[in-house]
Amino acid sequence: MSSNSTPLQASAVINEAVKTLRAGGLVAFPTETVYGLGADARNPEAIRKIFTAKGRPSNHPVIVHLAAPEKFDVAQIDWAPLVSPWVRDLSDEALKIINAFWPGPLTLVFKRDKSVLDEITGGQDTVAIRAPAHPVAQELLRKFKGAVVAPSANRFGKVSPTSAADVRSEFEGMLDLMILDGGDCEVGIESTIIDLSSGDRAVLLRPGAITPSEIFAKTGIKVYQAGEDIKEGDISPRVSGSLQAHYAPTTPLRLYAPGRVLDALSEFPDIKSRVAVAVWDSESSLNEDGHPSAYFEEVPIPSDSAAFASRLYRFLRDLDQQDWDLILFPEPPAGEEWDGVRDRLQRACFGSGPSSSSHTSN
Ligand code: TXA
Ligand code: MG
Repeated sequence: MSSNSTPLQASAVINEAVKTLRAGGLVAFPTETVYGLGADARNPEAIRKIFTAKGRPSNHPVIVHLAAPEKFDVAQIDWAPLVSPWVRDLSDEALKIINAFWPGPLTLVFKRDKSVLDEITGGQDTVAIRAPAHPVAQELLRKFKGAVVAPSANRFGKVSPTSAADVRSEFEGMLDLMILDGGDCEVGIESTIIDLSSGDRAVLLRPGAITPSEIFAKTGIKVYQAGEDIKEGDISPRVSGSLQAHYAPTTPLRLYAPGRVLDALSEFPDIKSRVAVAVWDSESSLNEDGHPSAYFEEVPIPSDSAAFASRLYRFLRDLDQQDWDLILFPEPPAGEEWDGVRDRLQRACFGSGPSSSSHTSN
């Protein structure tokens, strides 16, 4: 089954997607962050299909997506009865964070209820949950009347999809996948993940659009960086996004320091001839003296962090499709609002290149 290209999917198509989920099938759907590859969270066989489709190791946990009830005022949503079936100990602090940011691009990790399937948690004692804000995701979840587990709808280690066409190209020829089309994802990078499972402190596992200072500003709760002041011997949960190589294009990708494009090239002594250089749109031009044997083309990129995040994977995918020998991106500036894109760009560099698929990339 294929998607059509209207930006918001018609109800009849969503009804069909609900049937597919109920029958134990997979449905790709839009969220405000990236597209997800969804399955019924109470059906172990359906969940196993996700791992097969992605080529992802089965011990990597996946996120449970919940519907927000239809309310005119999100501030009035009572989240506790929706989250409770999945978790032990839903603390007041957790509810404070939920009330401030759900539905939205924020995933929270809790100690799991014993009914949560091992297929979801990778056998760990915790479960990750979020309520996506995208209207198509919300309608799908509400009509399904259950939770849907969904990793990003890409092959393991590859760039996450931010459009229905991206999802299609990931699984082309492998899987006859139903894809709901919700247009381009607005946030563009995966949700922020905060671990609340230790009970005593909130820990940032994956940076995203929602930052620790925003959480502090709205709730008064301090979010620690992973590894910050953690006692020795503590075991941090597995996050596949925290593996060094991830989100990787097959064209080599490197970052350059301000004004140092030629330094980035020196890593490649067998001079690359065609180089795409991303340049902040706030800067007029590189004014490079040029390079004797390389052809550069400048690609303007937004210098606002949210606008950049929203198009980062689009740039990586599109540039990867073109015939470049090397892609260069500027190092994102310092500042928490850049942490999410800096994290994704660094991993993309690490895993990039033609040999990225098997050994280094996860
Ligand atoms: O924005 C998002 O979060 C997207 C959309 C589709 O919702 N989903 C997404 O899923 O990024 P995925 O599977 O690509 O990344 C989820 C991350 C993985 O790195 C996984 O290891 C981590 O969440 N995760 C899931 N359950 C966890 C748990 N119990 N403890 C720690 N990390 C967990
Ligand atoms: Mg992913």
